[in-house]
Amino acid sequence: MRGIILAGGYGTRLYPLTEVTSKHLLPVYDKPLIYYPLSVLMLAGITDILIISTPAHMHQYEQVLGDGKKLGIKLHYMKQEKPEGIAQAFLLAESFIGSEDVGLILGDNIFYGQGLPRMIKQAINDHQGATLFCYEVNDPARFGVLTFSNDGSVQAIDEKPAYPNSNWAVTGLYIYDADVVQMAKTLTPSARGELEITDINNAYLRDGRLRVVKIGRGSAWFDTGTPQSMLSAAVFMEMIEQRQCVKVGCIEEVAFRMGYISKAELLKLAEPLKDRVYGQYLLRVATEEA
Ligand code: DAU
Repeated sequence: MRGIILAGGYGTRLYPLTEVTSKHLLPVYDKPLIYYPLSVLMLAGITDILIISTPAHMHQYEQVLGDGKKLGIKLHYMKQEKPEGIAQAFLLAESFIGSEDVGLILGDNIFYGQGLPRMIKQAINDHQGATLFCYEVNDPARFGVLTFSNDGSVQAIDEKPAYPNSNWAVTGLYIYDADVVQMAKTLTPSARGELEITDINNAYLRDGRLRVVKIGRGSAWFDTGTPQSMLSAAVFMEMIEQRQCVKVGCIEEVAFRMGYISKAELLKLAEPLKDRVYGQYLLRVATEEA
């Protein structure tokens, strides 16, 4: 199983913040945004991960995350010269995917909820074709939106429809079989000039190979593409972390709890940070488990 984090694009809706750095390196409360989607893939058991970003920002990702060795995972990097659509990720990643299944997560998507890792792992185990994760929202027109038939099956997916047929949005977490690369090769750019992920999903739907998993209301999902949604996500994380004394999206903790690194390796990561709140948290995680 391979993983891809798509962390390119211009982040125009976040201008002028995105003059400073890539959207996915901006802070969401106490850590860079990309930590959250990275931790989702890691919690799903995916440890071979390709990060796709812009030529201008690639080195910053490499500087922040390195080759993944300290987290017990493998991180690879690839440039997307221009943001020509989410589905372009599969063309760029063709040799990385090979004949494996692949989980794609958009770098600006944050998921939180106790049952989520189990739900994603289950979806990976049962997987055939394509699996989407959907969430009920009050502003569906910002997203890919599901239309359901009377029997509850999915009839169509529309990208940012002016008049959505339901409140169920397609989140930025997708699992595909290796056929996705060939599917991506058949796409033509949409009216906005992008290779649309929604076109891939509709192709799987037409083939009868699309599965939809509904994320329940006990979990939270944020697409942090706007200043307002980024702030909402930060406020949410601050509340959880302060109330519960745990961190969300702490990649070193996830690496340890998933067994990708040992207690000794976690302590080694924490040691140089022991004067900082983040390092003290890692020390606590390591010793609590003892
Ligand atoms: O967040 C879920 C939504 O994501 C889905 O409901 C939509 O169906 C899907 O099209 C997408 O919509 P967005 O409008 O949020 O996509 P956006 O253009 O913001 O791109 C999502 C992320 O992917 C963002 O972090 C930038 C990155 N990206 C995007 C494109 C088009 C790239 O790295 N390269 C690209 O070419």
